[in-house]
Amino acid sequence: MKISGLSQACENNKGPILAELTQIFAQTQRVLEIGSGTGQHALHFAAHLPHLLWQTSDLAYNHALIKQVIGTAEGDNILPPLALDLGQSWPLAQVDGIFTANTLHIVSEELVRAFFHGVKQHLSQGGNLCIYGPFNYNGAYTSDSNARFDTSLRQRDPLSGLRDQQWVVDLAEAAGLELAADIAMPANNRLLHFIRR
Ligand SMILES: C[S@@+](CC[C@H](N)C(=O)[O-])C[C@H]1O[C@@H](n2cnc3c(N)ncnc32)[C@H](O)[C@@H]1O
Repeated sequence: MKISGLSQACENNKGPILAELTQIFAQTQRVLEIGSGTGQHALHFAAHLPHLLWQTSDLAYNHALIKQVIGTAEGDNILPPLALDLGQSWPLAQVDGIFTANTLHIVSEELVRAFFHGVKQHLSQGGNLCIYGPFNYNGAYTSDSNARFDTSLRQRDPLSGLRDQQWVVDLAEAAGLELAADIAMPANNRLLHFIRR
């Protein structure tokens, strides 16, 4: 059965992201994904990282699609979505990995701060945080396509918008995380890898 509502961008970026996560999450046991969206990343990463448990989460309106997509998994290491809204407390205990893709430019700055508050509370010492998406550097776009994307995001919701990498790193450091790597990814995206001190 063909599932509608899938993302072509996820199909394009899941391979390059997995290549990095394979190294970063090599010793990780339980990953919480924030804003699982369509569930395509969860399906792909869990299948290729069978040593870990992948916990999906998102706002409730996305749960039906996530469940449909992860329902096609052959393995048993993906958990159905938690109702996790960054504006509220997170409904789980500690994990040793957190992954999120394309969320920090969607939610408001206030919710980005709430994201790091949650990371501080729920990521265990030595745990890995990976954030995938487009970022600005020193207040500047890294490409014309990112500039156009930012304009379209802000037209749709004035609270959305590309975040400055340094602002994100500062919030992470204040939450007890250290930037371990800032990896260039295809299509002017980045993968920020932090480790919880
Ligand atoms: C652009 S989509 C990215 C989805 C997926 N991670 C991907 O890369 O395709 C942004 C995601 O953020 C989620 N989101 C928006 N507001 C949120 C909030 N307050 N708390 C948690 N997730 C939120 C949306 O439901 C959506 O799944």
